[in-house]
Formats: sequence, structure tokens, C-alpha cells
Amino acid sequence: MLAATKLEEVRHEVTELVQATPTGRDLMRLMVKVLHDRMLKYNWVGFYMLEPGAEPPVLVLGAYEGAMTPHTRIPLNQGICGAAASSGHTVVVDDVSKDPRYLACSLETKSEIVVPVFVGGQVVGELDIDSHFPSAFTPEHQELVQYCAMLVGKKLEASGK
Ligand code: SME
Repeated sequence: MLAATKLEEVRHEVTELVQATPTGRDLMRLMVKVLHDRMLKYNWVGFYMLEPGAEPPVLVLGAYEGAMTPHTRIPLNQGICGAAASSGHTVVVDDVSKDPRYLACSLETKSEIVVPVFVGGQVVGELDIDSHFPSAFTPEHQELVQYCAMLVGKKLEASGK
């Protein structure tokens, strides 16, 4: 199956990035590019990281690929991003126009996935992907994005940065 092959290829490519990068920051920078360039329905791909020591906590935009977003700082009580970080669970929204939590980044966005990144069992940030296509994040895609977020958490943990 072509679609399955593509997902497997990209999974392999992001796995190879782990060996090729010294820090979590480098891995995030290269990973957003691979996901954005290789997955046609991943139209905006970025990391939001919790600002260390911020009270109340806030997510700050990190590495990303895609159009500029007005949402560079997101409190945990706002957006799909805030919901994923505060719950520690993946959030998949098939139709963003029907989700009152949604903070619009682009008028073209139809669906979104946000997956928390953990270090030492604590949420430190998240991987956020928007698609111009409705229901883009099927369980197979969810699995890939969760795998990517897991790799970043492990790299941050191992490298300390
Ligand atoms: N849509 C997100 C905001 C971030 S932009 O998509 C890049 C949200 O609802 O939290």
C-alpha cells in the first residue's frame, strides 16, 4: 500500500535524524522540516515548549515550518495547544471549525493534531501539526506524530537541551 509505505519511510527518516543530531533542539529543527516537506497534508508543523519557570505556565513557539502564526505564546487554558499540554494527552481535531477551543492560525486549516512531549514523565512541550485537509490525522498518522514527539522527549532527556 502506497500510503503505508510513505508513513514507514518518514518514520525511518525521523529515526535517522536522532543519530544525526546532538541535541533535542537540533532534532526539533530538522524534524519539522522533514515532516513538513515529506507529508503533503502536514501544512504547518511546529513545536511549542513550556517556558521554564513561567508562572502561570505558557507555551512558547519554537522550531516550525509553514506560514507565520500570530500565536507565539499560548497560555495553558487556551487553544488546542493548551488542552494537550495541560492534559498530557494527544488531541486530534477533525474539523477545527467545530471546536470552540481552536485558536486560528490560518484560514485554510481544517484539522489539527497536538501531541505532548515528555521529559522525565513531565510535559515540557508539544508537537503541533495543522492540515488544510479535514480529518487528516487518522490513527496511522497519530501513531507517527506520537512517535516523533517521543523521539524528541528522549533526545531532550539524553542531551539535557
Ligand atoms: N491552533 C492552535 C494554535 C497554534 S497554530 O495552529 C500554529 C490552537 O488552537 O491551540
